[in-house]
Amino acid sequence: MNILVVGGGGREHAIAQALSKSSLTKKLIVAPGNPGIKKFAECYPIAANDIEGQCKLAKNEKIDLVFIGPEIPLVLGLKDRLSEIGINAFGPSAKAAQLEGSKTFSRNFCKKYNIPQPNFTYCDDIETAKQQIELLKGYCVVKADGLAAGKGVVVCDTIEEAITASTQMLEDYKFGDAGKVILIEERITGIEASVFAVSDGDTALILGTAQDHKRAYDNDQGPNTGGMGAISPAPALNDRLNQEIFNTIIMPTINGMKSDGMVYEGILYAGIMLTTNGPKVIEFNCRFGDPETQVVLPRLETDLVEIVKNTVDKNLNGIKINLFDNTAITVVLASQGYPGDFKKGSELPSLSKYDQEENISIFHSGTTDNNEKKLISNGGRVLSVTAIGQNVKECRDKAYKIIEDINWENGFYRKDIGKL
Ligand code: AMP
Ligand code: GLY
Repeated sequence: MNILVVGGGGREHAIAQALSKSSLTKKLIVAPGNPGIKKFAECYPIAANDIEGQCKLAKNEKIDLVFIGPEIPLVLGLKDRLSEIGINAFGPSAKAAQLEGSKTFSRNFCKKYNIPQPNFTYCDDIETAKQQIELLKGYCVVKADGLAAGKGVVVCDTIEEAITASTQMLEDYKFGDAGKVILIEERITGIEASVFAVSDGDTALILGTAQDHKRAYDNDQGPNTGGMGAISPAPALNDRLNQEIFNTIIMPTINGMKSDGMVYEGILYAGIMLTTNGPKVIEFNCRFGDPETQVVLPRLETDLVEIVKNTVDKNLNGIKINLFDNTAITVVLASQGYPGDFKKGSELPSLSKYDQEENISIFHSGTTDNNEKKLISNGGRVLSVTAIGQNVKECRDKAYKIIEDINWENGFYRKDIGKL
């Protein structure tokens, strides 16, 4: 099969790596890709959000299947446009991607189908927001309705904090249109875990679990980021909990979307909090996570192309998904200053000496080579170093040995990824 992967971060690097291992893959191209992906697949400089550009590329390159990595092209309808020109794509339609694209859509949907979640209200004016914040005594979570690159969620302790966050979204347009409507949610507590399911619209299968580390600094201190590291399987989950999450959250979501005329096809990423009243949905995403993919896919025993092909052929009930009985952790090396202001354009040490390192993968998240030999930083999150092993200690020892050896002076990383 000729496969196109849309995207260019660490997630897409891990997706492309898994697809490249399959004997079913004839040609693999990635757009825009990155210098790490370039080593084993052809990359085309077309932005992930350039819907028409991606469609043209898929047509010109006679692509049989497009794997859409990030949420924005999904929300913008890349899957729908590709279907119109007769090309299969893995990922939900724009309508189904609203589960991530609009937090009010997703909360209303869960309410309709009794899917466990925190209480919430939504509002588009500051007076209503203030009333709700006062009712919750400030102990709440303020969220922008739309996509805000993971920055539109403020977990609050006080009335002042929550009013400030709401004012910034509703009145100061901090997130533009994404914050025209906001949610004020009950703040729940518990351990968090991410569950990745794949669905063809009827059948769903759990593909893996992970725990993300969202705060910038050790011991969950500092601002929220896109994710500074991850571990798989999620230490807090087990077979019983996975089954409960499947029965109470995953399957009701797939069935509910179908009844509402928005068949859900692709990855359903459920961000879960394990509360004393059972697992509840913190958020849904309509694609794989970054950096969670960098720990889930290297553990996948089943051929990823087979999974994707059976999904688009609506034949998922014909397969079983197996993972290796091992552990993976990934540690993100980020530019100093991230998630605030950071500099791009700093030279990274050569990584080729780690190519032969066993059970280690270095995924590129924000790098460029400017078509020269040098590797240059080009984003907040720059690399993610994944180690596979029999247990957490083995993985931590390996991943940290490599990241210390890389010793990039303009970077920082959390030292407690996977620490239990
Ligand atoms: P999100 O971007 O929706 O994943 O939210 C970012 C983080 O905010 C989550 O990983 C949780 O730690 C926290 N969070 C979101 N919603 C809630 C909630 N209702 N109660 C407590 N924490 C929450
Ligand atoms: N790591 C969180 C996400 O991909 O949304």
